[in-house]
Formats: sequence, C-alpha cells, structure tokens
Amino acid sequence: MIKVSLISLGCAKNLVDSEIMVGALHKAGMAVIPEAEKADVVIVNTCSFIDSSKEESISHILQAHQNRGMTKRRRNQKLIVAGCMSQRFAKDLPNAMPEVDAFIGLDQVAGIAPIIGEIYARERGANDAPASFIEGRSTWIPDYDTPRFRLTPRHFAYLKIAEGCNHPCTFCIIPQIRGRHRSRSVESVVAEARQLVREGVKEINLISQDTTFFGMDTWEQRPNPRTPVDSSRGTALTTLLRQLNAIEGDFWIRLLYTHPAHWSDELIRTIAECPKVARYIDIPLQHISDRMLARMQRETSGEHIRDLLRRIRAGIPGIAIRTTFIVGFPGETEADVDELCEFIRQTRFERLGVFRYSQEEGTRAAKMEEQVPRKVKDERWHRLMALQKEIAAEISSSQVGRTIPVLVEEPGVARGEWDAPDIDGRVYLPITVPVGEFTSVEITGFEDYDLLALPAGVAPATRKVARQAQ
Ligand code: F3S
Repeated sequence: MIKVSLISLGCAKNLVDSEIMVGALHKAGMAVIPEAEKADVVIVNTCSFIDSSKEESISHILQAHQNRGMTKRRRNQKLIVAGCMSQRFAKDLPNAMPEVDAFIGLDQVAGIAPIIGEIYARERGANDAPASFIEGRSTWIPDYDTPRFRLTPRHFAYLKIAEGCNHPCTFCIIPQIRGRHRSRSVESVVAEARQLVREGVKEINLISQDTTFFGMDTWEQRPNPRTPVDSSRGTALTTLLRQLNAIEGDFWIRLLYTHPAHWSDELIRTIAECPKVARYIDIPLQHISDRMLARMQRETSGEHIRDLLRRIRAGIPGIAIRTTFIVGFPGETEADVDELCEFIRQTRFERLGVFRYSQEEGTRAAKMEEQVPRKVKDERWHRLMALQKEIAAEISSSQVGRTIPVLVEEPGVARGEWDAPDIDGRVYLPITVPVGEFTSVEITGFEDYDLLALPAGVAPATRKVARQAQ
C-alpha cells in the first residue's frame, strides 16, 4: 500500500484542498500518515500570498527533499508540490526546483491518486525536468460529494462555498492564483452542511475569497466591470443562511471573509433572524481613508463603510466585528494613518488584525511609486496594535460577569461566538468540561485578548476550588 504524508500550509481554503487530497487518497486505497520519514510520497501544499509565505513554502519543500537521503525508504520517496505557489509559478518552478518530482495545481487536488500512479509509471532521466500537471487557470470547485477527509478537530469544519475572486484589489495576487469567482449551488452547500452536522460538527465556518459574493457570479458579466457593485442583487447568501439555519441540531454557522461592497440590509436582517448564525462577522476593510481605498481599488468608500458598520451594529444586537487593515500601502501618509486610528477608536472593533503592506510581484500596487519604507510600516503597525490592545482590554473587561455559550476546543480551552478558530482569542475554563460540546460559562476575568471563565451556576463556595483547577 502506498503511504503518503502531507504538509498543509496557508489558509483555511488551502486546508480544504488538503482535505480533498486526503479524501481522494483514502478512496484510492492509499494510506495517509503523519510521519514523512515512513512515507513513499510527500506532498507539500503551499501558500504564496506574501513573501514570507513563499519563503515558508520553499523551506518546507527543500527540507522534505533533504530528508529524502535519511532512510532507505526515503531515498525513493516522491516529492509533490501542490497549492497556491505551484499554481502561481506554474511555468517557472519546474526549472527552478528540479529536486521536486511533480507539480500540481488547484484543479488537480481531487485527481491526486492517478497522478501519483503516473509519477510512479514515469521513467525520469537524470536531466528530465519535474512533471507538471497544471493546466491553465484554475476553474474547478468541489461539490458536496467530493471525497474529503477533515483535518480539523471533530467539532468544527470549514465549508468552502465558492472559489476564486473577481475583485481588482491592487495589492492582492490571489485572483491571479485562484481564478474567477465561481459559487457552488445552495443545494450543494446545504447537502454538505447536513452531512457535517450528522457527523457531530458543532461549528460550520463558511469560507471563500468573498463569501458575500456567493451566488452573484451570474450577473457579474455586467457590460462595464467598473460599474459600482449593486449589492441588492445578492440573495443567494441570505437564502443559504436561512436554509442552513433550518437544519436540525445544535451548531453555529460562522460567516468568514465578507466584503464591505456586497453587504445588504437583507443580509443584516437574515443574520439577526437566524439564531444559529454566530453573532460575529469577519469583514476585512483594509483602510478607511478614501485616498487609500481608491488606490487599493477596494470598490468602496469611507462613507459607505461607516454607514454599513452603523447598520450592522443597529441591526444585529450583540454582534462582534472582526476586521483587518493594511498599513504602509504605497502613498499612505501620516494623515491617512491618523484617520485610520480615529476610525478604530470610534468603531471599537471587537477583533482586529493589522498587516504591513507586502510588495508582491505581479500586482499593480507593486509598481506604484511612493513605496513606504519598512521602518515606517513597522512604526504604523505598532501604533495600530497598541491602540487595539487598549480597546481589546476595555472590551474584555466589559465581558466580566456575563454568561455566554462557548464551544470547548480542548481540555480547559474554549471559544465563544466572538472567536473564530485559529485567529481570535480563547476562553479558559476548568478542565472538567467535555471537549467538543457547548457549555454555558460565566466570565470571571481576562488576560489581554483571552477570557477566564467558570461553568455558569457554579456556587460561590466552589469557585475557589474550580479556579485552582484552571
Ligand atoms: Fe490561502 Fe495562501 Fe493561497 S493565503 S488562498 S493558501 S496564497
């Protein structure tokens, strides 16, 4: 039996691709094992978003190659590179990395098993370049019956509702890697969600490059792509959320990666009316200054964003808003950063991440003048992070005394509705609460971005004992 080991890098979308590869390998009768040294084939599923992710991917590939000489079995081991870096540099990588046996792209993940068969069947001469199975731009999207083996803990799952991206953001390379946006059908997503709930999943995280664009692809062929986006046409996501909310069972639905240009009042109303949809939205805004938003080509404005956030807060009581900003984008001035800080102070985001702009080869922003020096980017990053730290402490402090539901992740560690897996804070509680289940806790304190809690209803006399067990 062929044994395969897989290293998955990058984001949740790439993780789903890894899960599809593992599902396909199992279906073909191959074993997937964690120990690379015992494997016949090693697959590195790469990320290529910014320079540091490329470096990490290259280092894993080279490490896997170097380790091949270490055992007898490994000397004949095949090395396959998959994922975003492989897709992005499809033409150059086979020459640049001759140590690799084969490169596959995003559309080949479900067909990985016959590809391994081909690699074994192929006689590779000493001077032959690695095989490449990548065929043009990515157009594929999985369906509910695509074999998949989940790599997340049993109680939460990522569900990819669409693939690709049609946005023209000048800093981002992902549309060139993952291709044009294509949505799955509502029926396909609901069928997969039902299966996940049957398997015991308590939290379904809906992902794509832009989840608010779900179902809008059919009218995207508007005559002039610069025509402002009309968010009123997007009813597919609200239909999907209502159908997911109607599935029987005790679980959360979490909406990740929304775009401010595509929100509608109907979407706000739908979230408010669907109790299974977590009171949490992820809405990367990138900036608030109109100058910056225009240069980034974010298809939105400061006024639109401010108005949208007001409507979201008013329409969905108890909502937590997570966003990300980029500092140091070409042409950003101190006045732009002042405006951004003031906006953060006023909006008080419950969750916030800050990235330093990365000059990515192949993007329009990389060719812009007025690139910001690294030192200035660092200063701005520290300024925003310090501001958010103060706000986060105030928000955490306001939670003390509240009783909230949490999902227990591992012994003594849980997440609330306001915390997405891997990116947000945690709730620490006594280790006696069962893993993978919901429970109700009372918040008793906080440490930076994390909360401390006790099971709700614990009598005051037993609190001290329970705290000691934390
Ligand atoms: Fe994700 Fe990295 Fe690709 S962030 S979409 S794995 S470039």
